[in-house]
Amino acid sequence: MKLSQVPGPIGVFDSGYGGLTILHGIRQLLPEYDYLYLGDNARAPYGPRSFEVVYEFTRQAVLRLFEMGCHLVILGCNTASAKALRTIQQVDLPKWDPDRRVLGVIRPTAEVIGELTKSRHIGVLATEGTIKSESYNLEIQKLHPDIQVSGVPCPFWVPLVEYNEADSPGADYFVKKCIDQAMHQDPLIDTLILGCTHYPLLMPKILKYLPAGVRVVPQGEYVAESLKAYLQRHPQMEQHCSKGGTAHYLTTENPEKFKDQALIFLHEPVEVDKITLV
Ligand code: DGL
Repeated sequence: MKLSQVPGPIGVFDSGYGGLTILHGIRQLLPEYDYLYLGDNARAPYGPRSFEVVYEFTRQAVLRLFEMGCHLVILGCNTASAKALRTIQQVDLPKWDPDRRVLGVIRPTAEVIGELTKSRHIGVLATEGTIKSESYNLEIQKLHPDIQVSGVPCPFWVPLVEYNEADSPGADYFVKKCIDQAMHQDPLIDTLILGCTHYPLLMPKILKYLPAGVRVVPQGEYVAESLKAYLQRHPQMEQHCSKGGTAHYLTTENPEKFKDQALIFLHEPVEVDKITLV
């Protein structure tokens, strides 16, 4: 495959809107780079989908971002990071172009968790797919074998955000239910990872039901720190990331709908183009 060698934007992929919270964190820390965001909104959510399907959809998206000039793509989606990242890194990248890179959001979160928990008992709140994949447990066990991990699927949290119900009284029930479940599963938990891109938007409710002494970890800033360190360690990749401070947005659904929803996540208007993934 012949991909362009000219510097290009950093790609950020998500099943839909959630990766915008990751992009927001990255742009806060690394505003000088260009970014190309792709949301596969037409096929979201990925959370309940099988491994094979999430891999195939993610593979199509990453390849498209490479074809559009990206050298580095961040899977801003936990479900895609859990179910597709490893196979893309090991099987697809060597065939496409061994110099391109794809990074996920689970490893950076697993790396910092060792410094955050004192009790060495943590909870992971995420989609059903991410919890079932056990990716957080595996990554955390590799880095911090003494940490006990309890996963809780929160299937209603993504729709609450997507339907703009995050601040509604109805959201209280579902937020409280999952936090209670995590604490019931392991009362020694002192740190809860928000292992899904949408969950930071439920933060006011999460803080309301979080037991005293338990801290909550959103991912955006850790993924950004990890990307910064990665670019410092890999100057050749850094030189292939163009620096114009821009962000462009692509969706596989209706761009007008994306613009409206993006406001919930970014609090600023964006320009969006539609593409089709096959
Ligand atoms: N972006 C997904 C994640 O972080 C949540 C939405 C979905 O299920 O597609 O897991």
